[in-house]
Amino acid sequence: MTPSDVKATLSFSDGSPSMELPLYKGSIGPDVIDIRKLYAQTGKFTYDPGFLSTASCNSTITYIDGDKGQLLYRGYPIEQLATGCDFLEVCYLLLNGELPQQAERDDFVKTITYHTMVNEQMQFFLRGFRRDAHPMAVMTGLVGALSAFYHDSTDIHNAQHRTIAAHRLIAKMPTLVAMAYKYGVGQPFIYPKNDLSYSANFMRMMFATPCEEYVPNPVLVRALDRIFILHADHEQNASTSTVRLCGSSGTNPFAAIAAGVACLWGPAHGGANEAALNMLEEIQRNGGVEKIGEFIKQVKDKNSSVKLMGFGHRVYKNYDPRAKLMRETCHEVLQELGLQNDPMFKLAMALEKIALEDDYFVSRKLYPNVDFYSGIVQRALGIPVSLFTAIFALARTVGWIAQLNEMIGDAEYKIGRPRQLFVGSPVRDVKPIAER
Ligand code: ACO
Repeated sequence: MTPSDVKATLSFSDGSPSMELPLYKGSIGPDVIDIRKLYAQTGKFTYDPGFLSTASCNSTITYIDGDKGQLLYRGYPIEQLATGCDFLEVCYLLLNGELPQQAERDDFVKTITYHTMVNEQMQFFLRGFRRDAHPMAVMTGLVGALSAFYHDSTDIHNAQHRTIAAHRLIAKMPTLVAMAYKYGVGQPFIYPKNDLSYSANFMRMMFATPCEEYVPNPVLVRALDRIFILHADHEQNASTSTVRLCGSSGTNPFAAIAAGVACLWGPAHGGANEAALNMLEEIQRNGGVEKIGEFIKQVKDKNSSVKLMGFGHRVYKNYDPRAKLMRETCHEVLQELGLQNDPMFKLAMALEKIALEDDYFVSRKLYPNVDFYSGIVQRALGIPVSLFTAIFALARTVGWIAQLNEMIGDAEYKIGRPRQLFVGSPVRDVKPIAER
């Protein structure tokens, strides 16, 4: 970290001695104030629930400028990566810091391809679930269970174990998601096929059956690959912070990633794509474009808990750059499938237009996020709504692993242990039950 010439001084109105706090400069983005010695020197903690002003680590992986609507992976703009690279190149970049040269790419693709099968025993574990279990419930279990199947890559402090675990997780997530899907619909599992690309292989595992081969459509494969690229990492979001915190105890990588999957499930995070599509379907059922005004009224009503799902973001206070790319992909996919007049897409565009002109959204800087259009694309690809968040988890796995491995390699890495402002009862005595 580069120290800044500027120092911050913290002073107190009760006459306690003031304290000088060092500042560090990022390569881009806001400086940070180093408060690590604050408690030792003042006996006080900082208070920042939701981490609105707190940097929990330093990182070289992903940078977001929320005001500009800019997203960089290792310095490269997401627009260039989404149009010039495939998902596995982006995985290599996130894991290793540089885009691969041809030989490195070939090697990496081969490694991932040859790790796509899962231990046959995983099937029996999966069969323990109810068929109607939510895919994210299944994924939380399956990913956690990987640590029981791959004992030889569970030592987080061993660099080789970390590398193998990273390859295994990236390679096996599509197989697990497709297995969770096939199990839910009662179809036989389809094994991976090594002559297909990462995304084409996933589509085949999803949509082929033993009776009928599935020939991946390159436009649809490219769209899915783009969904994976756009969701691959997003700096210290809730699930990534969960993975870091979980991994900071020294637990194995599979357990840490399972914690990330569990966090991602929530509707304020990865569950938003499912929630956004459900919302569009409900508006459609209740009258479609005509009823947008009524729906927006409910969203703006402080007494209702209705939110415009797929809108708003903790960091982006401008159009989410991923949403722009996703809207473009949405056009391409619907055109390829002859669904240009898809009512859900029309509804989404009408809703977006109205929201972007409405003072409620404008004044709060609420713009569409990536999930606003990703659900429509996934639905057009034939992916059921309940699987959307599992697809997000598949794509985000590389980001989680890259961030976890970065944390372990950081000399300043410590177990994560926030403090609190205690507002409960001071010490008191236990009374015998008859006197309580
Ligand atoms: N619809 C209606 N109002 C909203 C929305 C929304 N989608 N998002 C925020 N607001 C309002 C809040 O009610 C609040 O209003 P107020 O100032 O009058 O109280 C104001 O905008 C600020 O919002 P916060 O909730 O304080 O912002 P925060 O950063 O805590 O939340 C979040 C961000 C959780 C993403 C929120 O915008 C949201 O719930 N959006 C819908 C869910 C969603 O799409 N999540 C996906 C996130 S992207 C991802 O995970 C890939």
